[in-house]
Amino acid sequence: MVATPVRQEMKHEVKDLALAPLGKQRIEWAGREMPVLRQIQERFAQEQPLAGIRLVACCHVTTETAHLAIALKNAGADALLIASNPLSTQDDVAASLVVDYGIPVFAIKGEDAATYERHVHIALDHRPNIIIDDGCDVVATLVKERKDQLPELIGTTEETTTGIVRLKAMFNDGVLTFPAVNVNDADTKHFFDNRYGTGQSTLDGIIRATNILLAGKTVVVAGYGWCGKGTAMRASGMGANVIVTEIDPVRGIEAAMDGFRVMPMAKAAALGDIFITVTGNKHVIRAEHFAAMKDGAIVCNSGHFDIEIDLKSLAAEAVEVKEVRNFTQEYRLKSGKSVVVLGEGRLVNLAAAEGHPSAVMDMSFANQALAVEYLVKGKGQLQPGIHSVPVEVDQEIARLKLQAMGIEIDALTAEQIEYINSWTSGT
Ligand code: ADE
Repeated sequence: MVATPVRQEMKHEVKDLALAPLGKQRIEWAGREMPVLRQIQERFAQEQPLAGIRLVACCHVTTETAHLAIALKNAGADALLIASNPLSTQDDVAASLVVDYGIPVFAIKGEDAATYERHVHIALDHRPNIIIDDGCDVVATLVKERKDQLPELIGTTEETTTGIVRLKAMFNDGVLTFPAVNVNDADTKHFFDNRYGTGQSTLDGIIRATNILLAGKTVVVAGYGWCGKGTAMRASGMGANVIVTEIDPVRGIEAAMDGFRVMPMAKAAALGDIFITVTGNKHVIRAEHFAAMKDGAIVCNSGHFDIEIDLKSLAAEAVEVKEVRNFTQEYRLKSGKSVVVLGEGRLVNLAAAEGHPSAVMDMSFANQALAVEYLVKGKGQLQPGIHSVPVEVDQEIARLKLQAMGIEIDALTAEQIEYINSWTSGT
């Protein structure tokens, strides 16, 4: 027998409910740039496709996520929201979701690791039928610790590259016994969110934290996936000299042909003024690199977890660590030089700024909302494993976004359709 949770009253854990009016104002502002999700929200409110579904969303608690949560609630879901990162929560948004929209939220900016983990367990206590994850922490905890709840799970969706890497590892270990939708893989997600979203918001975070001029600086971007491409492109657009480091030979060529210098971190370390990690891997910047850096070099991360910069090794070399601005810590080293770390090595775009702008999250979260609907509609029919967002859904989101942007494109003529479907007509 599977226990049914009793929800007598809405519980929450947010910083301060009095912040709600500011949060509501900012949520409404973000909504102006989210026309696709708005249309989905309106349809969901009428059709109630998630009626009776217990849903957990583990996302960065931002104005954009607020619109996703509202859409899910309007669709009939019993939705609960927790933070997917200890430093990314916008406390005013968390408060407004509780006060103005009746959504239980467990998220406080700056929460410690124990609180973060406790919130993951509170999310699992909700006994979700659907999990929206950003980084795979809820899903991994469910599989590790709450196998008894797996029969209640219809499926999960995953937002980010790091989470997909973990899901693939789970699949290879034979423990992914439910369908998981790879939202990151949708074209209308990674082409825009990872590239233009990360590109803009990462620089926004660096600038808000430091107020530094990028023109003329040497910016080292570690990783040339979609996030790295966007970051390098935008840094270059601001007048920085960009160096890219990579471990993938194809991406190395790509970065070189996009006009960037490509070299190992061991060489780049001595040249950079600002370092940005977006690899998804561990200790990309470590002791030997810190030792080679210029005095005052700035180091930050825009990858999902705070593992890319080896802060322990930096701390071991430090004689003093002091907060020099919000989200900006200077490590004074035994060598006499200093290294400046932004956002404690966590996602700088969400720690020191507001994350990706609403216009790109509109498409990412349209994918999330429709992926959840797809899982619920396909309950019992989808195989365990990782699924793509259906291509028709991806295309429809693109069509709606273009329409909202007031942009028209051509349609294939009958003659063109015939041509591309034929192999007999050639030269
Ligand atoms: N990830 C990156 N930016 C985000 C945002 N604005 N909201 C939610 N998740 C995000």
